[in-house]
Amino acid sequence: LDDPEAHIVSFTVEEDVAFGPCNLGLPREEILERVEFALEATRLGDLRDRNPYNLSGGEKQSLAIAGVLAMRPSVLALDEPTSMLDPLGRERVRGILRELNRRYGITVVFSSYDFEEVVDLADRVVVLREGEIVLEGRPREVLQNVELLEKCRVKLPEVTRLAVALRRMSVWRDPLPATVEEAKSILTGLLRNYVLREAGRLETRHGKPVITVRKLTHVYPDGVVALRDVNLEIYGGEYVALIGQNGSGKSTLARILAGLLKPSSREAEVRVAGLDVTKARMKDIVRRIGYVFQIPEHQIFHSVVREELEFGLRNLGIPEEEIKRRVGELLKVLELEEYEDEWPLALDRGKRLRVALGSILALDPEVIIVDEPTTGQDWRDSLYVCELLRKLNEGGKTILIITHEMDLVAKFATRVIVMHEGRILMDGDPRRVFSKPEILRRTWVKPPQIVELCQSLSGVETLLMTVEEFCEMFKRGGE
Ligand SMILES: Nc1ncnc2c1ncn2[C@@H]1O[C@H](COP(=O)(O)OP(=O)(O)O)[C@@H](O)[C@H]1O
Ligand SMILES: [Mg+2]
Repeated sequence: LDDPEAHIVSFTVEEDVAFGPCNLGLPREEILERVEFALEATRLGDLRDRNPYNLSGGEKQSLAIAGVLAMRPSVLALDEPTSMLDPLGRERVRGILRELNRRYGITVVFSSYDFEEVVDLADRVVVLREGEIVLEGRPREVLQNVELLEKCRVKLPEVTRLAVALRRMSVWRDPLPATVEEAKSILTGLLRNYVLREAGRLETRHGKPVITVRKLTHVYPDGVVALRDVNLEIYGGEYVALIGQNGSGKSTLARILAGLLKPSSREAEVRVAGLDVTKARMKDIVRRIGYVFQIPEHQIFHSVVREELEFGLRNLGIPEEEIKRRVGELLKVLELEEYEDEWPLALDRGKRLRVALGSILALDPEVIIVDEPTTGQDWRDSLYVCELLRKLNEGGKTILIITHEMDLVAKFATRVIVMHEGRILMDGDPRRVFSKPEILRRTWVKPPQIVELCQSLSGVETLLMTVEEFCEMFKRGGE
């Protein structure tokens, strides 16, 4: 299922994974062997004794995958199984699925909106649109139908998108590539005819510090150390991406910044938008800091969309007329107008997230923190949310997003903070951070395809991060 919590059945990770094989009545050794295999495959070995409910979102998703891997059924159907996993964790799960398919002949059905995920995984791709099959075949053949794929809201691999853009500029004439390797071999030839000049730089605006964190350590009641001496300053007007492997402490940090969790260490200092959030009253915090949960359903309480957005304002005693006006505007901005009378939890994931986002935007906070707005919805919805946050950012809001989608980080963030085992591993502008793949690897992150492609080519001086930047370079180079 695409909701990993719905899978949890036991009180420890290990028992949870063993539940399926036990029910199959398998011999003990077989059960143990399968549980080990599944825990190893999903990197949950060290977490075997933990309570599943206390896992991070991505760890829960890994657990759901481990549970089905251990069953080894003859047909394995996975519905967007890796949306909450870190980039290299996704690769690992795909590797395991390939192995199960080859070694045990298990038929795998894997649903995804992201073509990059299936290119080297699937023997056959079936593209659905409004319940109908519109394309079918080998991945590389299907991929050539870019127009139709885009109409079906399929996300193309970045190198394919790049080739499509270059084709429109009459630079690219070959078949469309599916992988960095394929793109590289063609581009290397093309680049000989171009004089390459520096790409523009991202400018980082430095206002006054809006978030200040000192000596922040957090240990959960069960002894898990989630944050270790984090020190951090975020400035007004920054658009910050917080990235790092599953369980590295991102959500814990976000919850502390939003005042929802008190740091366990006494000497910790956490100031956000002028408030000491470890002491301030929630009523004051929510006016200045908006936080959208990793599982937005956890913050939706009302039976009607409009009421959900009105709730916070009503609590603050804003006059009814003003509430109606503000919420009306928000519904428009969030493209939720036609759903205002619907039950929020009956909407699709993308809209549910927008309802949760709306409920915090209603209060017009200075700092907006969104925890994995890109999971469980298609990439256009993700793009839409990131664009919306950019608009708010341009209007002066400070944005912090947590995500595993590195192409979105490259496109939107002015700064990237990389977490690893509760510490900050790297912090800087995206170009600098993405130029260090070996360090990112330690926290199971890999840069977006375009960065990989760029680094594999010789003669490009600045690290290009997005399709748009690449095309710009060709335009200037061809002058
Ligand atoms: N309520 C909780 N109780 C105990 N441990 C937790 C709880 N929430 C998270 N953890 C653990 O703390 C660590 C950091 O979790 P989290 O901040 O959610 O990670 P991320 O968001 O980076 O995936 C993980 O090891 C996770 O299992
Ligand atoms: Mg998280």
